[in-house]
Amino acid sequence: MKNRRSLKAPAAKRPRPSRAPSPLLSIVILAAGKGKRMHSALPKVLQPLAGRPLLRYVLDTARQLEPAALHVVYGHGGEAVRAAFADQDLRWALQAEQRGTGHAMMQAMEGIPDGHLVLVLYGDVPLLSAATLRGLLGLADERTLAMLTVQLAEPAGYGRILRDARGRVKAIVEDKDASAAQSRITEVNTGVMIAQAGRLRAWLGRLRNDNAQHEYYLTDVVALAVKDRVAVRALLAADEAEVLGVNDRRQLAQLESVLRARHAGAALVAGATLADPARFDQRGELVLGNDVFIDVNVVFEGRVVLGDRVRVGPNCVLRDMIVGADTQIFPGCVLEQSQIGAHCNVGPFARLRPGAALADGVHIGNFVEVKNSRVGKGSKANHLTYIGDSEVGAGVNVGAGTITVNYDGASKHRTVIGDGASIGSGNMLVAPVTIGANATTGAGSTITQDAPAGKLTVARSRQVTIEGWQRPVKRGPGKE
Ligand code: UD1
Ligand code: CA
Repeated sequence: MKNRRSLKAPAAKRPRPSRAPSPLLSIVILAAGKGKRMHSALPKVLQPLAGRPLLRYVLDTARQLEPAALHVVYGHGGEAVRAAFADQDLRWALQAEQRGTGHAMMQAMEGIPDGHLVLVLYGDVPLLSAATLRGLLGLADERTLAMLTVQLAEPAGYGRILRDARGRVKAIVEDKDASAAQSRITEVNTGVMIAQAGRLRAWLGRLRNDNAQHEYYLTDVVALAVKDRVAVRALLAADEAEVLGVNDRRQLAQLESVLRARHAGAALVAGATLADPARFDQRGELVLGNDVFIDVNVVFEGRVVLGDRVRVGPNCVLRDMIVGADTQIFPGCVLEQSQIGAHCNVGPFARLRPGAALADGVHIGNFVEVKNSRVGKGSKANHLTYIGDSEVGAGVNVGAGTITVNYDGASKHRTVIGDGASIGSGNMLVAPVTIGANATTGAGSTITQDAPAGKLTVARSRQVTIEGWQRPVKRGPGKE
């Protein structure tokens, strides 16, 4: 795989070798919110961003910090959230009723020893980088409350940072509680905070819900820290996109375009040509050879590997695919969990379903579907054909409109076609059946028995012409 660069979604990057695991760090991810503003049956933290649930991004980033424990606060009815991450080693804390971020935090604190540093992350802020969090960890210690803020041109919806005359952080005021003057403040709370567990526990116990939303705001611990003369250190995030939260679908779409631009940028840097970087969707990992060309509206999902000089035409979907060098994919193809060799032509309007394996030089043409089948070197199926559960040899030509009849209503059967065979147009190959090497089948044949190698097999009724036959004529009343 020389000269190939893997373009993973940024949050999925391999963890960089980091400092020694800190036994003192506990991370809590708040993910219990209903996500009312999404108007969705799906819990907000499961909403997909570039094909992966929001919470997956936050978990991946958290892991890179190698915490002693990773806690997730999940909500009432959030069993789907737990199920989606059943593969992970997580400590789940149930917040049965959503009474605010402070209340959510209390649910996780039980299992965290006083001496730990606690890093709070929000499940709906997916693009935070581990590097930024490491920067914040650098400011944190047992005697400090460290928080991440950001300047936003449009701060509406976010908690605003209140500072005193000397520029020291005093408190956070939530958007819904802010005065008109406070609403004009453009420095906002990202939700990321680090404090010593013992102190945090005490502050959480002092929270009140006498605010616009009648919620226990985690953000109120900042004012309590100031009151207790605990140093509050705010780090200003450099990249606004990193700290954007997802509350509604408009914001989700905004982050999707941030990721789209990042992925497109990475593909261009890796040497691919994109007909339009704004119409390129990567929802997984993309491995690119040199001089790849990708036309507009191509969606990549899962892990896709494109060899050198591969060209992908417009409006294609490729999911978990390996495509060999110099292969051309013409417009409108849907290709899934399959492998294509080098120098192949696929499409337009071709469909590869799971388990298709095309050797080098294969042509799969328009309205041809291949599933769970191997197609040998240089073989062609150019028009209107279904090849399923088949073993097609090398140098085979499959005529237009041919179908491997693989399903008898109960089970699937295999079709085997030998090297060099020529299947006539409009054939039904009723599996299980074998066509010998270099065999030819007549057009319109329904092949139900094996066809011997090297011979012509025709399986259709003989054409007859009926002498003296007359076309029926319409008989009406009075016409006898
Ligand atoms: C929150 C912050 C705000 C900040 C913004 C950054 C508070 C009170 N406000 O506002 O200062 O600018 O994030 O994006 O913290 N959650 C629970 N349980 C609850 C409520 C929320 O687990 O009872 C979770 C949600 O799932 C979400 C996160 O906490 O992941 C933030 O909640 P959300 O309601 O979105 O807060 P914001 O209004 O965005
Ligand atoms: Ca939010």
